[in-house]
Amino acid sequence: KYPLILDCDPGVDDVFAILLAHVTPEIDLKAICSVSGNVDILKTTYNARLIAGLLDAPCIVAEGASRPLLREPPPLGTVHGRDGLGGYAHEFGEDRLHTLSALKALDVYRKILLESEEPVYIAAVGPLTNLAILFLAYPELKSKIAAVSIMGGGIRRGNITPYSEFNFHKDPEAADIVMKSGVKLLLCGLDVTLRATLTEKEINTMKAYQSEFSEFSMKILSSYTSKDTAIHDPCAILALTEPEKFVYEDQYVEIDTREGITRGMSYVDSRKSQEKKPNCRVFYDMDQGFFRKSILDALKPEV
Ligand code: BDR
Ligand code: CA
Repeated sequence: KYPLILDCDPGVDDVFAILLAHVTPEIDLKAICSVSGNVDILKTTYNARLIAGLLDAPCIVAEGASRPLLREPPPLGTVHGRDGLGGYAHEFGEDRLHTLSALKALDVYRKILLESEEPVYIAAVGPLTNLAILFLAYPELKSKIAAVSIMGGGIRRGNITPYSEFNFHKDPEAADIVMKSGVKLLLCGLDVTLRATLTEKEINTMKAYQSEFSEFSMKILSSYTSKDTAIHDPCAILALTEPEKFVYEDQYVEIDTREGITRGMSYVDSRKSQEKKPNCRVFYDMDQGFFRKSILDALKPEV
């Protein structure tokens, strides 16, 4: 089993990254760290505690950064609803919330990385603020990280501007710091995650499961996918555990932090790929049937 910290901003699709990290037998989910992103930090932390609570996940849940490193981008209409979970964040009583750690995310990262005997994996599916702060505060801890699997960016593709994807657009300086960190990186951007969709068939199977979590999943998905949105975040977990189901290439990726429609854009500098070593593994495609099955398997009640 390999130790993993999941950094997220739940967010409807983040829920499925938490679910996969929790159920995947090869993963030992040590902590869920929240970050401000899809909604503010109070809400993403609440939602992280709720999902960990509903799953009965025996991990730490800690609150992370409340704002991007330098500048807060203008507020956006949110596809995740005002509460981050399509209006369903308060379906359950507060007694279902997982305990919140007294330590903040930065200290939780430090503690887990220092104490772990083996290198730790990180999956980051929100803005990269917590990780950038970690790398600036404790650069020596980078050597304890096995790899960071990121949902963010897209090679010259965007969903917030024509060129910029939400997580990188929200905190481009943080994305830039992480890209340049020298840590082993896997990048699941829009190129691959726009393929992360479910069909009527999977929704019907989910319906038949009739578990508390599958019913909750259907509700939050119905509010979200009606806006024609892909379920991006679980790809970052699958890319770690089953890379052979993906098409990828090792490349040199940079982030544009300038103002304007390219702020937060990720692009491959193929000239630098020749002179510089690739700084990340860019995922471009995946087996869609595999994605759909993975989500269903994770939701399937135990018999
Ligand atoms: C990313 O933005 C968020 O809205 C999703 O949770 C995902 O992490 C997709 O661009
Ligand atoms: Ca997210």
